[in-house]
This record gives sequence, C-alpha cells and structure tokens, in this order.
Amino acid sequence: LKAKKGVRFDLYTELSNKKDALVAELEVTEKRLDEFMAAMRCILKYIGGGKLEEPAAETKGVDVEPFLLQGEVDWVKIHRLILREIRRLQDGLPIYAHRREILARIRDSQIMVLIGETGSGKSTQLVQFLADAGIGSSETVICTQPRKIATISIADRVKGECHGCYKDSNSIIAYPTFSSDQPFGSKVIYATDHCLLQHFMNDRNLPGISCIVIDEAHERSSNTDLLLALIKCLLLDQTRDLRLVIMSATADANQLSDYFFGCDVFHVSGRSFPVDLKYISSDSEASTSAWGPIAPYVQEVVKTSKEIHRSEKEGTILAFLTSQQEVEWACENFQAPLAVAFPLHGKLSFEDQFRIFQDFPGKRKVIFATNLAETSLTIPGLKYVVDSGMVKESRFEPGRGMSMLKVLRILALGIKNISEFDFIDAPSHQAIDMAIRNLVQLGAIRQSRGSYYELTDEGRYFVKLGIEPRLGKLVLYCFRHRLGKEGLALAAVMANASSIFCRVGTKDDKIKADCLKVQFCHSSGDLFTMLSVFKEWEALPRDHRSKWCWDNSINAKSMRRCQEAVKEMEESLRRELDIIVPSLWLWSPHKSAGHDKHLKWAIVSALVENVAMYSGYDQLGYQVAMTGQTVRLHPSCSLQMFAEKPSWVVFGELLSTVHDYLVCVTAFDFESLPSLDPPPLFDFHNMDCQKLRSKKMTGFGTLLL
Ligand code: CDP
Repeated sequence: LKAKKGVRFDLYTELSNKKDALVAELEVTEKRLDEFMAAMRCILKYIGGGKLEEPAAETKGVDVEPFLLQGEVDWVKIHRLILREIRRLQDGLPIYAHRREILARIRDSQIMVLIGETGSGKSTQLVQFLADAGIGSSETVICTQPRKIATISIADRVKGECHGCYKDSNSIIAYPTFSSDQPFGSKVIYATDHCLLQHFMNDRNLPGISCIVIDEAHERSSNTDLLLALIKCLLLDQTRDLRLVIMSATADANQLSDYFFGCDVFHVSGRSFPVDLKYISSDSEASTSAWGPIAPYVQEVVKTSKEIHRSEKEGTILAFLTSQQEVEWACENFQAPLAVAFPLHGKLSFEDQFRIFQDFPGKRKVIFATNLAETSLTIPGLKYVVDSGMVKESRFEPGRGMSMLKVLRILALGIKNISEFDFIDAPSHQAIDMAIRNLVQLGAIRQSRGSYYELTDEGRYFVKLGIEPRLGKLVLYCFRHRLGKEGLALAAVMANASSIFCRVGTKDDKIKADCLKVQFCHSSGDLFTMLSVFKEWEALPRDHRSKWCWDNSINAKSMRRCQEAVKEMEESLRRELDIIVPSLWLWSPHKSAGHDKHLKWAIVSALVENVAMYSGYDQLGYQVAMTGQTVRLHPSCSLQMFAEKPSWVVFGELLSTVHDYLVCVTAFDFESLPSLDPPPLFDFHNMDCQKLRSKKMTGFGTLLL
C-alpha cells in the first residue's frame, strides 16, 4: 500500500505483485492527511496483526510512504478498516482533522465539552473515534440523543460506516426505548437520554460503560440536566474510570465547563457544505382570511416549496414549520405532480417518521417538519431548506418548572434532600416545593424526616415504568379496580387530548365539527368523551376507521397514536411489573354506573392538585381550590353541552388566552369522596377536605363581596 502525499493525494495498493491499483485520488489538507497516515499506521500495525515495516527515514513524511505488511494478517478486516478510513478522508468532515488531539485531551483530562456546528461529525464520528481508541477500563461508549428517531438513524448510519470493522453486527446498537434487559456489552450504544436515565435507576454505577457522550446538550431538556447531575456524581467516584464528552452546536460552553470542574472546551471549526441563502418576504396581510386559522407564513412556506419544486433541479426539500397542525395542513395543501409530501413531527409513530428515509424513484420528496428535524436528523438527498423562521418553543426552563418524574427519579437514586441536589441550573425552591407537594398528594413519596423524602412502593412503580406519576397513578388505580384497559386508554387520550377532535377550516367547517362532537359529549366530562370516541374507533373493523374518523371529524392520526401509546404501556407493564393487561373493555358510556364511578376516582386521584369548584354563578365560573384563581370552562369542554354545571371538577390544564380556561375537565362528586370504600389509592388525608371546604367558603365569600 503506497500513499503519495501532497496537496493532491493518491493512494495505491500493490496486491500479489500485480500492477499498482489506484484506490483513491483526493485533495486534502495537510492536517487531514496527517490524521489519515496516523490512522493507517495504526490499522496496519496494531489491528492487522503481522509485522509492519516502518517506512525508511528518508521517505517518511515526504512524497511516498509505503507500508509493507508481512506475516499472519487479517486481510478482510484490514480491508474494511482501510475502506472506512478512506471514506472518512473523502467525506472531509471537520472533526476528522482533530481526531488525535481530541483523543489525547480526553485521555488526559477525563471530561470535555466539544462545540461544533451541525454536520461537523460529532454524533457519527467522535463516538467511533472514542470506541476505537479503547479509552477507559471497559469497551462501551454510550452516546445519548434527545429523540428516538435520531437515536435509530444515527446508529444505522454508523453501522453502515463500520460494516465489517467490528466483530459482529451487534457492536453498534440503538436503544430508543428503555427495557431493563438491555445489555451494555456493545462497542457503541446510541440511546435516548430517557433510556440512559432509566438505566441509572437500575444501577447508579453504569457498569460496563467507559465513556458517556451527551449529544445535543444545547437542547437542555430536563432529562439532559438530570443526566449531567448524575454523571457528575459518578465522576466524583475515584474508583470509577469514566470519561465524559458533552457535545453541542451552540451551548454555553463556559457554564458547562464551570459545572464540570473547569474542564476543557474544544471547538471544531468549519462547515462541510456550502450554503446559499435566499430570503423571501411574506405578504401576510393579503392572504390571512383565505387560509382560515392557518398563519400566513405557513402559506408562504408551501408556496415557496412548490416554487422550488417547479423551477429547481432534483433534491429533497425540507420545510420548517412550528406545529403538528401546520405540518399536517401543509402536507394536505402541497399537491404537485412528481412530488410526495411527508409530515415530520414528534407525535408521528416511528414507522411514519421513518418514511422520510424511503426512496421514491422519479419523485421529489418534500418534508414539512417541526423543529424535530433541525438538529439531529440527516435527511438523505436534502438540497433545499425552507424555513418559516418561526418557532414555538416548549423549552424546559430550569428555574421554573420541575417535572414530577424527575423528582421521583432523584429520590429513586437514594438522594433524600432534593434541594441539595447539584443541578447545573437548580430549580427554584418554589418549583421543588410544588413538585414535592404534588408527589405527596399522588402518594408517590412520603416524608421520612425533616426535609427528607422517600419513595413509596407506588412511586417505585412509576420510576420503573418511566411514566409521569399522574398517568401512572391513573393506570394503577384502574388496575386495582379491574379497569386496566380503560386506565391505559384514559392515560393515552389524556396525553393526546388536544388533537383528538378536528376543528379546522372555515367558520362553517368549525360549526359542523362542533355539531358532530355533540354526539360524543359525556356528562362526566372530556376524558369520558374521548374515552368513548377511542373505544368506538377501536371496535370498528380496521378498514372502516378512516372513513368513520372523516365522517365524525375525529383525527385519525390521534386515534392511532392513542393505540400505540396503549401498546407501549402494556408492553412495559408486562416487562417491568409482570402485569398482563386484560384485553376486555369493561366500561361502557351508557351502562355501568359502578365503572363510571371508579374511572372518575381514578381521574381525580391523578389530577388531585387540579380541583376546581363552581361558584354557582355563570359569570364567575369556577375557582381553583389550591390557588383561588377564577377560571371558566373552555368553550370546547364537553360539559358546556349540559345545562347544569357540576359543583366540583378536576382539570388537565389551565389555558390562558382572553380568560383563564379549564381544559380537559372531569366532573366529580366531592361529598362522596371520603366515604369511598375501599379507600382510594392516593393518600387522601394529605388533601385535607376540611381545608378545601373552608377555602371554598372564604374564597367565594370574598368573590361575592
Ligand atoms: O453531530 P454533527 O451534527 O456534528 O454531525 P453528524 O451527525 O455526525 O453528521 C456528519 C455527517 O454524517 C452529516 O453531514 C451527514 O452527511 C452524515 N449523516 C448521515 O448521512 N446520516 C445520519 N443519520 C447522520 C449523519
């Protein structure tokens, strides 16, 4: 094998004295070439076996550097490794030129923050470099991703690149969802951050992992923050030889470095692709009315995509919008010959998300996406990007909120005083207090002493299932009352509540949709209404479902999502808790008062912090028990269809627009709550009915004055 160096670079092999065969002909920078030569030496000398004849001193680093290999050599493996190396050199990803420096630094300093633009090769290459360098005491490098689809697609890509380089096809593996029987023996694991968190719950030492790579750290989800805190604890353990790389396109590197003991920050510079930008101004005034509830920029994005399709050369178009509704609308309204439009948003099933990777010969792919696709997905053949420039952010704000599952997880790790836990951005004391109060109410934790809390058995279930405690509470309560299937369906419709009923289009379309909804409205409220819809849909033969949805203004995709959510929960109940869900529906919207009652208490037990009382006056509406806030039922609420307003309700969400509205509301009879027999699963006495009642009196007394 001969490598001819220079600005141009030619690579020849000499096989069995046959004539030189030109393998690659490239133009590369000196720095990349150095990395390549170093990698080749490494492949031949350490991996290939046999004996490598070092180049003569006078030829080293000059024009020709011949490698001669003799003896027992694993040629197939060498061949694969060399091909991979040549491919890397050809791809010219910016990170390639920094391989040895990065590895040397991570060897020395254990922790590193790596900053580099999207596409510089962080997710796909760095992880391979680390795995090949054999850093740490064991073999495995685990790289976390915020999203399932990126976890799978990056792992697939790396698998393709490494074909034949490792001992078997399981050397690179993707764990998009958690299961407690996932082994940690592979060379490279791509896992969602949620999945790694769940593994932490199983064993805080993460045995077998030598290097953790946290990707997309700039997204700063609550999962990432919790992971970073847990890894920090692990790094403090002197007996554990663990490396950490935190990768980000834009993160506040200094904050991350400060949090991790002032570690190194490494910048990978350089873009891999030239980008042409073209700005289009949107004539928003002229078109608003014609597009009904859809914002004008959505129209502009569809129009621009059509224009590109009509006038530009082949290549996939990716257009960014801000919500699932906009994406679905755009797909429906993008109709052009020789093009196929795809939606891409977080609520699509795996299979549907993966359709964007399929080939459609002779057709142009046009993908309308939410910002799901922005950072972590590489779409093959992508040539044109249309960006509305708008974004709806639902970002984790560390100081403000705190997910209840996150608290629970901290406690599950044996940390009893949450306020002392070392977060990169600690949640405020109020946020922690509120989360603790809610968890106590849900019966997931109990106070052990002072400001120390511990998990209850139920809390442990929620952590095992990786399920938000409210939904877990609902599901478990239903199980105890033999309404398992209903419980899963309720949790699924609760998670999809905002998208089950379609209400888009012109004013007339909306009126029609409202009229169609009336037939489903249940006097106990929205969750019962949605449960009947789901049940009715599930009972239909598969090929009748789409038409039924269309006829009744129901979102067919939401129904499918609910069904998938039910399946996923069934699977984890079986796997983690050995609970088999009966396939029988017991609840019927018209018949069983007893089941109705249990389902209501299940809902109340899950949403117990969201109780509201009716003032007795339409204009005053309801008052939230915990805060005293005055609120109204949302116009879309099923209870609006009934003349008599229930005295007590629980709600899923508070929506603030012109007024403060209660959304996803269920009516219940407060007076019968304490007399429930057997008593409800949640710790009812912590809710203090007397206090609520007196609050009702004083609260409304004030209002009426
Ligand atoms: O992590 P970072 O954004 O820095 O880059 P990367 O995800 O490692 O991507 C490096 C290159 O690999 C991209 O520019 C794509 O060309 C390619 N890639 C791909 O084709 N398919 C994937 N699933 C991931 C990356």
